[in-house]
Amino acid sequence: MAKAILTIATILLSTPPLPTVTATTTSQECGIYLAESSTDHVLGSYAGRTYNRDDPIGSSDAIVQFVDIRINNQHLSEQDATHLESFLGTCWSGDATAGMNEAEEVISAVGGPCFSSTGHVGMINAVIYQPSTLLRTDHDLLTSGYDELTSPGRGAFTYYHNLTLLAVDKIQEGSEIFLDFGAEYNQYDDVSKPNIDDYRKMDEAMEKMVAFFKKHGESLGEKAASEVYEFMKKDVLDLTAEARAEAARSLLPETYHGLQAIIDVGGSALHSNPEVVKDMDWLRKEGYCQDNLVPGVSKIEHAGRAAIAARDIKKGEVVAPMPLVPIVKGRDVLTMLEYDEGDETKPPIKYKQFLTNYVLEHPKSSVLFFPAGPMTSYINHGGKKANVKMAWSTKLWSDVQAAQKASVDELPFFSAVDMIVDLVATRNIKKGEEVLFDYGDDWAKAWDEHVKHWKEMTKDVKLSQSAMVLNEIYHGADTIQPFPTSSEDSLAGDNVQLMCHLLYDEDKIERRRNQDGSRTKVYPWIPHPVTGEHRLKTDLAVRGINRMDCIIEERTGDEKTGYKYVVRPLQEKAGLKILVKNVPHDVIRYVDRPYSNPQHEGHAFRHSIRFPDDVFPEAWKDLKDGYNERDEL
Ligand SMILES: *[C@@H]1O[C@H](CO)[C@@H](O)[C@H](O)[C@H]1NC(C)=O
Repeated sequence: MAKAILTIATILLSTPPLPTVTATTTSQECGIYLAESSTDHVLGSYAGRTYNRDDPIGSSDAIVQFVDIRINNQHLSEQDATHLESFLGTCWSGDATAGMNEAEEVISAVGGPCFSSTGHVGMINAVIYQPSTLLRTDHDLLTSGYDELTSPGRGAFTYYHNLTLLAVDKIQEGSEIFLDFGAEYNQYDDVSKPNIDDYRKMDEAMEKMVAFFKKHGESLGEKAASEVYEFMKKDVLDLTAEARAEAARSLLPETYHGLQAIIDVGGSALHSNPEVVKDMDWLRKEGYCQDNLVPGVSKIEHAGRAAIAARDIKKGEVVAPMPLVPIVKGRDVLTMLEYDEGDETKPPIKYKQFLTNYVLEHPKSSVLFFPAGPMTSYINHGGKKANVKMAWSTKLWSDVQAAQKASVDELPFFSAVDMIVDLVATRNIKKGEEVLFDYGDDWAKAWDEHVKHWKEMTKDVKLSQSAMVLNEIYHGADTIQPFPTSSEDSLAGDNVQLMCHLLYDEDKIERRRNQDGSRTKVYPWIPHPVTGEHRLKTDLAVRGINRMDCIIEERTGDEKTGYKYVVRPLQEKAGLKILVKNVPHDVIRYVDRPYSNPQHEGHAFRHSIRFPDDVFPEAWKDLKDGYNERDEL
C-alpha cells in the first residue's frame, strides 16, 4: 500500500509544471473586468467605468444554442446525469437568449460577463437584454460574401449573436456586476436577507427621516428625537414591513445621527456591502479585461463572424481569460441519436450536437471543455497564422493547480474560478486585427475534407434560406421592404415563422365588429420596457415572454413614414382572438421553425477544437489508448 502511494506521489512530483505566463493588460480603457466575486469563491465581473441605467456593458457576444440534450441523454448513469446538470447549470435557458424556437428544449452556452457574473438578492444592477439577440441584424455578415445556400460553413457557426448586458441601475466604477437570474433563483422571498426592494424602500425612508430630524430634531431635543427614531425603527417597521421587518431594519443605523452617512455613500446597499466595490488599481493589476475583443466578420472564407481586437495588444499580454467548463463524457453527451420512425430496431443515426464545434477536446481524455471566455466563441482557426496561445492563469485568486491535479471525476466539482486558461498574444496585435487560435491539425484536416465534399454531400438536398436571410431583406440597411400581409405573396418558406415582439396596453381596449357579428378585441402596441422599474421583477425584459408567433392582417404607411401593422398573435391559449394595432416594422422578425435553422442539418461541419498538449494536464488523461470513435456508446 505504502509503495503504491509512493508511486503516485512520485508521478505527481515528476509531472512537469504546465506553462504559464505572467502578463496583464495594461490598458486603462477596459470597460469590464473579471476577478473573484466579492460574495464567494466564484467568478465575478466588475465595472471598469461608471455606467448609467440602460447602458450596454462589455462587448456583445455570441450564443451557442444546443438542443434536447436531456432527452438525448436518458441512458446516463445517475452520477453522469448529475455531472451533465452541473454543466447545464452554467448555461442560460434558450428563453433568455431568444433561442426558444430552435427545438423542444433549448439551452444556451454563453461566455464572458453573461457567464462569469454572479447574482445577489439585494444588488442586481444588470440584465441580459433579450431583445438584443432577438432583434439582431446580420447586414455585415450577409454583405461580406457569405452565401448560406452554397457555403460549406452553413450550419457550422452560430447565427445567434449580439448578446448584450444592460445596466439597470447606475453602476459605479469598480463595482461588481450582479445579474438578474429571476426572482426565484435570486431568493427574492428569503426573509433573512434584505432584498432589492428592501434596499430601495429603506433608502427612500431614510431620506424622509433625515428631512424629519432636520426639521424637528432641535425642538424635540436629543432624548425625544431618539425615541421617535426607535419608534419608527421598531413599531412602524414591524407593522408595515411585516415578515420583511427584520431584514429591512438591518439596513438602518444605530442612531438617527448615522442616517446621512448612509445616504452619502450612495445608499444602504453600498453601505452594507462595501466589499462589492473594488479598487480600480487592483482590478487593473489582478483582474482580467473582458472587452479586449469585439465582434466582426472574418476575412476567412466560410468562417462567419470573428473576434476582433478592440485595442492594440502587446505580445505576451492576455487577450481574454477562458474559464473552462467540463463536460464529463463529453463526446457521448454531445451525441444525438435519431431513430428511424418506421423501424425502431434499425440502429440510430448519430449526430453531433452543434455545441461540439465550440468545445475543446483532447484525444486522451473523455472530458470536453466549453471555454466560457468573453467573445472567445468568435475566435476562428488560424493554423500557422494564429496570434494567441493558451496558458494557465497565474492569478492568485484562481487555484488552477488544484484543478490540474484533479481526476476527471472530480472536475465537475471545481468552480470555473479555479479553471482559467489565458489566451495570450504570441505577437503584437493591432486594434482591428482578427484574433486567431490554432484549432489543431485534426480539425484543419477535417475541415478541408468537408469543404472538398460539400457539393457532393448537398447535391440532393434542398437547402432553404434561413430567417437570417429573410430578416436582412426586411430590415437590411439599404431599403426597407414592407412585410406582406397574410393575403399577399410571401418570400418565406415553410421553414420560417413570423414573430412579433408584442406588448400591448390592456387598459386601452377597442372592440371591432366582424362581419359575422362577433367582436374582436384590439389593443394598441406599446414599446417594450428596456429594463423596468422593479429590477428583480424584470422577468419581461429577461425572458422573451412577450415575443409571439404572429400573422400580419393589415399594413399602413410607406417607406418614408415607416410601416405600421395590425397583427394577430398566435397564442398558445386557443380561442383567444385578439389583434394588436400600431405595431412598428422594427419589432417584427422571421424566426426559424424548430429544427429548421441550418445548425440542425446533418451534413453541417462538426469538429471540436484541439486542447493543446503542452497545457493539457496529465491527470485529465483518462483514456490511455486515446479516444476511438467506435468505442462510443
Ligand atoms: C444589437 O441589439 C440592439 C438592441 O436591440 C440593436 O439595436 C442592434 O441593432 C443590434 N446589433 C446587431 C449587430 O445585431
